[in-house]
Amino acid sequence: MDQTLLKQKYTFLILFILGFLLHGESYKFSRKLSPQSLDFKKQKLSHLHFYFQDIVGGDHPTAFRVAQSSITNTSSTGFGFVVMIDDPLTLGPERTSKIVGRAQGIYASADLNQVGLLMAMNYVFLEGKYNGSTLSILGRNSLSSPMRELPIVGGSGVFRFARGYALAKTYFFNTTNGDTVVEYNVYVQHY
Ligand SMILES: *[C@@H]1O[C@H](CO)[C@@H](O)[C@H](O)[C@H]1NC(C)=O
Ligand SMILES: *[C@@H]1O[C@H](CO)[C@@H](O)[C@H](O)[C@H]1NC(C)=O
Ligand SMILES: *[C@@H]1O[C@H](CO)[C@@H](O)[C@H](O)[C@H]1NC(C)=O
Repeated sequence: MDQTLLKQKYTFLILFILGFLLHGESYKFSRKLSPQSLDFKKQKLSHLHFYFQDIVGGDHPTAFRVAQSSITNTSSTGFGFVVMIDDPLTLGPERTSKIVGRAQGIYASADLNQVGLLMAMNYVFLEGKYNGSTLSILGRNSLSSPMRELPIVGGSGVFRFARGYALAKTYFFNTTNGDTVVEYNVYVQHY
């Protein structure tokens, strides 16, 4: 075989392999990590206590109905209404109590026969070391039960790798305008 042709072939092959290696290195999709490298050492358990202020009426509501179904008005459970909230979370039960966080997200009527809400929301906290950290709640809120349990499915900041549950109990309900105050006890494991 012609020597120059062979040389050209080898050069091409080497360039091809080099290009592949370089490319492969700069775009690595996954790797194994040791738990220590993410400060993944000791699991903590925290208990949070606060009041959820669902303000529907008045001059400064924080909960708004954004959608409903064709049967919402005639359904005994208001099936299909969707409410978007940015509700204050307060230290004490009074509206004027210190705000320690906000509940941001959606609750919607998801049960045709009993009042059962789908809750899909993030609780973002403002207090001290919790400032900016969030907990994500996704669960069923059975309003007919005095005590409801909602799963905590994740979190961010100090609540990375969070899982746990929230116990919710209605503290006050204004039958005139629908304003509600709910007491929350949250138990959460995190790192
Ligand atoms: C349901 O009632 C509300 C007012 O209470 C009204 O604005 C809305 O149009 C009604 N929806 C239907 C589908 O009848
Ligand atoms: C929480 O963080 C925000 C911005 O990151 C800051 O403006 C605010 O003062 C902090 N609040 C507290 C109570 O530390
Ligand atoms: C309930 O709502 C009505 C109408 O907005 C208001 O006048 C009343 O003061 C509220 N009751 C309480 C106990 O907050």
